[in-house]
Amino acid sequence: MLSRSCLGLALTALTTAAIAATTVDDATLTAPDAADWPGYGRDYSEQRMSPLDQIDATNVRGLGVAWYLDLPEDRSLTGTPLVVDGVLYFNGSYNVVRAVDAKSGKLLWEYDPNVTEVSGDRLRMMWDWNRGIAYWKGHVYNATIDGRLIAIDAKTGKAVWTVQTFDPKEALIVTGAPKVFRDKVIIGNGGTEWGPARGFVTAYDAATGEQAWKFYTVPGNPADGFENNAMKMAAKTWTGEWWKHGGGGTVWHGITYDPEFNQVYLGTGNGSPWNPKIRSPQGGDNLFLCSIVALDADTGEYKWHYQTTPGEAWDYNSNMDIVLADLDVPAPDGGAPRTAKVILHAPKNGFFYIINRANGKLLSAEKFAKVDWATHVDMKTGKPVERAGARYEDGEEIVWPSPFGAHNWHAMSYNPDTGLAYFAAIEMPGLFTDKHVDVQAWESPYFQFDPAIAFGADYVPDDAGTGALRAWDPLYQELKWEVPLPGVWNPGTLTTAGNLVFQGRADGTFWAYRADNGEVLWHTDLGLGVSAPPITYAVDGTQYIALLVGWGGAGAATPGFVGAQHGWAYRAHQRRLVAFALGGDTALPSQPPPLHPQPLLVEDFTVDNALADRGAELYTGVCMMCHGAGAGAAGYAPDLRASPVMLSLDALREVVIGGNRRDQGMPNFPEYGDEELVAIQHYVRRQANTPAPCKACQAAR
Ligand code: HEC
Repeated sequence: MLSRSCLGLALTALTTAAIAATTVDDATLTAPDAADWPGYGRDYSEQRMSPLDQIDATNVRGLGVAWYLDLPEDRSLTGTPLVVDGVLYFNGSYNVVRAVDAKSGKLLWEYDPNVTEVSGDRLRMMWDWNRGIAYWKGHVYNATIDGRLIAIDAKTGKAVWTVQTFDPKEALIVTGAPKVFRDKVIIGNGGTEWGPARGFVTAYDAATGEQAWKFYTVPGNPADGFENNAMKMAAKTWTGEWWKHGGGGTVWHGITYDPEFNQVYLGTGNGSPWNPKIRSPQGGDNLFLCSIVALDADTGEYKWHYQTTPGEAWDYNSNMDIVLADLDVPAPDGGAPRTAKVILHAPKNGFFYIINRANGKLLSAEKFAKVDWATHVDMKTGKPVERAGARYEDGEEIVWPSPFGAHNWHAMSYNPDTGLAYFAAIEMPGLFTDKHVDVQAWESPYFQFDPAIAFGADYVPDDAGTGALRAWDPLYQELKWEVPLPGVWNPGTLTTAGNLVFQGRADGTFWAYRADNGEVLWHTDLGLGVSAPPITYAVDGTQYIALLVGWGGAGAATPGFVGAQHGWAYRAHQRRLVAFALGGDTALPSQPPPLHPQPLLVEDFTVDNALADRGAELYTGVCMMCHGAGAGAAGYAPDLRASPVMLSLDALREVVIGGNRRDQGMPNFPEYGDEELVAIQHYVRRQANTPAPCKACQAAR
């Protein structure tokens, strides 16, 4: 078990009587009290726009730390806290939920669903993080890695009901926030790279946990019959025997409820497997992969869809935020503007989409980053025009963007006052290759990572990828301003009526900009990479800005050197929840400087290249996800090139086969023997003797 003794001590001194069972319902999530942040994107629109303006562009320089809460047992922190009536609720690593007094930061209760104990082989899928929780009528909803949806009493921190949302035997996980609307709570899941996965969402009664409806996002085997007409229609866009691999389309992040149309929008995932030559060998759009699908919120019935990446081949899922906005479209004759009710969506594929909420019609789509898989979106067909070669037809191709996308799940905010959307863009290509894949004989993995394509695990561009905060005008589809950001894994944004945008950075700093023109107004050093978006709220007349500080998420693990450049080595820096206010004068204890573990120099180890090649296969199949591509760890797990454990076969057996670090998040592999361990040893030693693959990563060392 993870020990959380420090927090346990603090708990005993506190009572939980202070928490009111506030009603957060349809009315509150449509138009919340200005002081609160009751939903993931604050309200149903998912705009992350707060009407609070005590902190504004003229005084933001006076921000200081009001309080902080150390989280010594936490690792990845990606969650959006919620604030209801002066209580801040948040989820930390391993789905631990806590309530704190939003004015003082005092811990009120803690709920630990013990996910490392119940996860079994799912532990291999990493993901110690989750992006958020939901609140509704006195309950906090927590969706755990292993697929439980737990309603917690907001007053006491005790579980009220629990449901299992998928069959635990399936290689699925949950990393996203549940959403609530009209007395229902909805959740999807993810994991298309680890086993056959057929995407679906389930809505439950928020009071009892009873299932209300379920919607699959891709068709199953036609021989079994279709659940509904939407699946029958979708099946016409698939070829081969996709159902054997699940097909994909998991809904692991973007879900938005639209009260004006009583619709739920699902952002759907990539294919399972990614490689369409296997998934749907004679082509086809493969509905509803990489789409926005609108459902009737009461029945879960299909209403319309728009597909951003037909027949996807690059992990360009459409799971990113689905933001609702009213755009004032100028009349061509200079008359009164017309209000368009639209969706704003900036998915991985690099196009910014404006979609009509009434019927799913595409209104416009333009590139917001370097994109070369498609030249443009044809407005007549609504489909992208792909370039030759982009589908690695010849087995290998460098394509922009990489599978990390031109924008990932990091929250996008939208400010109706400035008319701008703010998000972290990524500029990085991927090397896609399936030369090593036997397309005819490929079989789905089971709790092993295999998307039926290699995406350049050891390929790192010389600049290690770059990023930027982009302020995008959706009406004119143009960039209004941008600020360069360090690396590629930068977090989500917050915007306020004070003409402000707030965003943390991968380098551990936290910034405020003027929302209309991007002028830098304030920044501070938090000493650890930020991966979570900030929120704002007010208690007793004081406005606070709060965020979780804890480098995490897939970009802090898998891309190896791309993430390692920041120096957030495994467990070297304190995780925290930090709240700022004007005049705040609490001193934040300093963090150790960035740490770059150096490979151990071992003179008496002779690398056998054949063994190392075999080790590379094993490493990429399982270890890479956490210990980093190319054996350069990005901070989620120890750098194995620097680990003495890697040099002792006895120690390795205990850790990798025996599982003596399971309670610390290191899964075990009982199917392995010495042969596998020795092969991985040779691979890691070879990597230890090889300089980091890109100029930018070498400079960081
Ligand atoms: C799900 C993520 C994950 C995967 C997959 C994973 N590890 Fe780990 N590993 C960890 C974490 C986290 C730790 C640190 C545990 C601790 O704090 O003691 C760790 C620790 C280790 C250690 C001990 C390092 C040290 O110096 O203490 C070794 C060796 C190791 N892992 C090898 C492997 C190998 C080999 C594989 C692939 C077969 C692998 N791991 C797969 C997460 C992972």
